[in-house]
Amino acid sequence: MTVSDRIDRIAIDPFGADIPGESARLRALGPIVPVELPGGIPAWAPTGYDTLKELILDPQVSKDPRQHWRLWPEIAEHPSWGWILGWVGVVNMLSTYGADHTRLRKLVAPSFTQRRTEMMRPRVEAITTQLLDALDTPVPLGEGGAVVDLKAGFAHPLPMRMICELFGVPEELREDTAKLIAAIMDTSDPSPEHAAFVQQQIGSVLGALIAHRSEYPGDDLTTELIRVRDEDGDRLSDEELLYTLLLVIGAGFETTVNLIGNAVVALLTHPEQLAAVRSGEIGWDAVIDETLRVHPSIASLPLRFAVSDIKVGDVTIAAGDAIITTYAAAGLDPVRYGPDADSFDAARGADDHLAFGIGVHRCVGAPLARVEALTALPALFDRFPDLQLAVGEDELRQVPSFIAFGWQEIPVRLRA
Ligand code: HEM
Repeated sequence: MTVSDRIDRIAIDPFGADIPGESARLRALGPIVPVELPGGIPAWAPTGYDTLKELILDPQVSKDPRQHWRLWPEIAEHPSWGWILGWVGVVNMLSTYGADHTRLRKLVAPSFTQRRTEMMRPRVEAITTQLLDALDTPVPLGEGGAVVDLKAGFAHPLPMRMICELFGVPEELREDTAKLIAAIMDTSDPSPEHAAFVQQQIGSVLGALIAHRSEYPGDDLTTELIRVRDEDGDRLSDEELLYTLLLVIGAGFETTVNLIGNAVVALLTHPEQLAAVRSGEIGWDAVIDETLRVHPSIASLPLRFAVSDIKVGDVTIAAGDAIITTYAAAGLDPVRYGPDADSFDAARGADDHLAFGIGVHRCVGAPLARVEALTALPALFDRFPDLQLAVGEDELRQVPSFIAFGWQEIPVRLRA
């Protein structure tokens, strides 16, 4: 059986409305299940921790669609497949294999080591304090001014400001950058118009950033990458420069926004665990790891490709087939985490989750994400000890995406 055969495929919900439920339903069908992504793109979905880990670490699994996806030459024939180009059609370290991947990763990774990230901590702390001060001037969500949207007022702007400062994104481009990344994450609309909008915005917003920093070089990572391109086009082409900026700026805030937001909601809906954190019984690191296990910012990532036939149990993933990387399913796997795998329990100390990836594509920005969350969360709960959700948990709405896993808004009351 190959993924292109006419077999029954399970359609992945493009809105991601119930990612844990969907993961459980797929898991019941076996360790690897043929699925259909929005617009009808066929792929395989690993449903458990061990299968996912083995596939990610298998050198016969690539991330380069141009070399290894059988359906790559057909994309233009399927107008509703265009959205996938925002993920796999952009040439950067996330969508390359072997030497190209190593070359592109080396240009960015040294700026985000543990040591370099430590140097960013004072700035993260300063932005956190500014945002907490500003929260006292609420972002209203309709009537009853005491309710603020913690995502818009805190979880979003902290990582966004930080990554924009690191990459020298000028103020006037920040809103369009945020809209572009939200549009890429939104998998609910596989129309050609949406895909065209994304492609057009990548060129115009990031093109404007490159033009700005070419004219006004600064002490920032965009200027540094432009210098590499200008000095040695073999190390970084024009196209790779544009798409590397897209990846690192996008991954650099959207994921951490959801980590902070998901952790806040998890603690507010588990007050006994919040109390244990406050008393020092449970550490903030454990809160972050448990949030990433149960509610990983990236639920599933498109796409990987089989370089040669790969056997998983009695299924063969044929060379050229696509695979999605299912971090949420791995974190919620009862075989790995027990029958209560789907419940949030920061005391379980599960720091073996795969939410930052594993192997050569492991997240470059994990230390930064951790510094941001480890700064933001204690500061927020110290400043507002009576923080509470202003709506029921079941009223929170997931962002329209099977990739991003987070809330559209987080309405809270800051004080009792
Ligand atoms: C909670 C926050 C974050 C989460 C959950 C997260 C998750 C991930 C995951 C799962 C991957 C692996 C993708 C794969 O398997 O192919 C990844 C890769 C990556 N992440 Fe993050 N990330 C986060 C924050 C960040 C930040 C802050 C940055 C930027 C500073 C960043 C930059 C990257 C880059 C550049 C890659 C590509 C690495 C490669 O392909 O070699 N991420 N991230």
